[in-house]
Amino acid sequence: MKKEFILFGASGDLARQKLYPALFHLFGMGESMRYVGFARSELTAVQFYDIVRASVLATDVEVSPAKLDAFVSAWTYVSGTYDASGIGQIAQVEGDADSIERFFYLSIPSGVGLIMSVVRGLKEHNLINARSAIVLEKPFGLDYASAKNINSFLLEHFTEEQIFRIDHYLAKDLVQDLLALRFANPIFEPVWNGKYIDRMTIEIKETEGIRNRGQYYDQSGAMRDMIQNHALQLLAFSVMNQPKNISAESIHREKIAVLEKIRLWDDGKNAISIGQYVGYRNEPYVAPLSQTETKASLTVCIDTPAWRTVPITITSGKKMDKKTTDITIYFKKRPHSMWDESGCSLDQNVIRVNVAPDNDIRLTLNSEFDLQKKCAFPTELRFGFRDNAFILNEPYENALRDLFAKDQSIFINSKEIALSWKFIDNVLERIALLRAEILETY
Ligand code: BG6
Repeated sequence: MKKEFILFGASGDLARQKLYPALFHLFGMGESMRYVGFARSELTAVQFYDIVRASVLATDVEVSPAKLDAFVSAWTYVSGTYDASGIGQIAQVEGDADSIERFFYLSIPSGVGLIMSVVRGLKEHNLINARSAIVLEKPFGLDYASAKNINSFLLEHFTEEQIFRIDHYLAKDLVQDLLALRFANPIFEPVWNGKYIDRMTIEIKETEGIRNRGQYYDQSGAMRDMIQNHALQLLAFSVMNQPKNISAESIHREKIAVLEKIRLWDDGKNAISIGQYVGYRNEPYVAPLSQTETKASLTVCIDTPAWRTVPITITSGKKMDKKTTDITIYFKKRPHSMWDESGCSLDQNVIRVNVAPDNDIRLTLNSEFDLQKKCAFPTELRFGFRDNAFILNEPYENALRDLFAKDQSIFINSKEIALSWKFIDNVLERIALLRAEILETY
């Protein structure tokens, strides 16, 4: 079966920074196919090849020149508009249309209109068949209503199994390692609930501002840009019950069960905070009096017997003190223990998964016994994946590899999107009238 990867947005940032390097690595591992780059920019073949070559070399300098040449020359560039007339030009470079397994990757400015226009173009030119897959980048809509619209439109042309919605946080190695940590170690299973867990935090902090994305970001804010998707996915992944098996279907089912039960902590009292970094309003394309949040924090709980007593605080922000993504689980201290009488103060047991940049898992224990003071003292066990020479893949490489294998386990399905938006719509509605009052400057 001939395979073909058709990339819409082939001259854009995501393609340059992430997709070409990831595709090149997979190509090096034998995943080869015909590649078509499509974008509005009028580029000659040579100009386009230079883009692909430079983007691979920017991430990997030790590239075999012969392999890079082979990869670059597997591409055809087509320039056109994102509609039936533009897409007609792809159809012209096609051979035997029916026998090709096509992957349509939409790395284009989000917007229901543009997605629809591309899909209609593909349909009109008979490029979609039962083996096709379509890949969509976030955001999937701006709220529940628009996400529902996109989903129902897509489902008129593709089945759910053919739609791959990327959340690159789910494709990060350390996030997937949670599956092993949680479900391959029976010592953790009995304690992963509110009887033993005191609280949890999920923090996604970035040091950069919004760069040149003001047009998109000012309409979106941290709540829609990061919390609705990445943070809620990390949350669902961290607290879901054990899936029946490692199939996409089972994993999605368990994440959905979490997202269905997500609620604001304590009925929402003091559960939401938002902030905006100093200087945000001077960023290009940002409204001078913008009240868009560049930082958001929510405390939630999962309304099930196992979890409802555990406050889970999710925070994400730009221009923060460091770039880090951490999932931290704080276990309860025992109410009474033999150490009380000696006046020893024990630490909470804590598991912290640093998704990036350290790629490590730390476990705080009280495992040192001081013979003189007769007290237990905290120690930390740390396992660094990179330090131990584990190969860590780029999230886009993981996502594309699974896409080519048609495995949706690290992608998200329409129900997850709908539930996340319902929750976030509700949060945004609650703060709509208070925004000016509660928006802190940091
Ligand atoms: C994107 C957001 O989805 O994720 C960006 O739109 C954000 O605003 C980015 O900067 C962060 O990704 P990472 O992998 O660099 O932490």
